Amino acid sequence: MAKVAIIYDSATHNTEMMAKAIAEGIKSEGLSVKLTHVHEARIEEIKGIDGLVLGSGTYHHEIMPTLEVFIDQAKDVNLRGKVGAAFCSYGWSPEVVDLISNRLKGYGMDTMEGLLIHEKPDEAGLEKCREFGKNIAKKIKGE
Ligand SMILES: Cc1cc2nc3c(=O)[nH]c(=O)nc-3n(C[C@H](O)[C@H](O)[C@H](O)COP(=O)(O)O)c2cc1C
Repeated sequence: MAKVAIIYDSATHNTEMMAKAIAEGIKSEGLSVKLTHVHEARIEEIKGIDGLVLGSGTYHHEIMPTLEVFIDQAKDVNLRGKVGAAFCSYGWSPEVVDLISNRLKGYGMDTMEGLLIHEKPDEAGLEKCREFGKNIAKKIKGE
């Protein structure tokens, strides 16, 4: 069974809600998902995965610092050709999703267009997250 790691940072749980809904979408397509807050994540977890999905809240126009460190560490893992995707909750500026996507592209990942949600996702936002998860899974399955 294909394996996906979702790793996120979130100070007020908005990005975390996105992460959980994305995980539901991926699972609904029959893939195995490991959802980890970046504070508990170890770089070994992303070795041998088929997809890496990274999420962050937006603070001062930047990726949250602990996720930034994790992304730096990921340079030592061979992610070339694996599916990558980014997601973010934001308040007023949308740049962080592209900052993460560009890092994944830099590692040679087959990177999908990222998902942005404004502040706390409502039910429609959560549904977008589930759909995003399904699309990630379908890309990994080659559908
Ligand atoms: C101190 C602070 C700085 C923020 N900086 C930005 C910012 O630069 N751009 C933006 O779009 N939103 C900014 N926000 C809003 C958060 O990104 C937004 O509330 C988001 O939903 C938080 O996600 P989280 O709950 O996953 O941490 C900021 C919020 C705080 C409290």
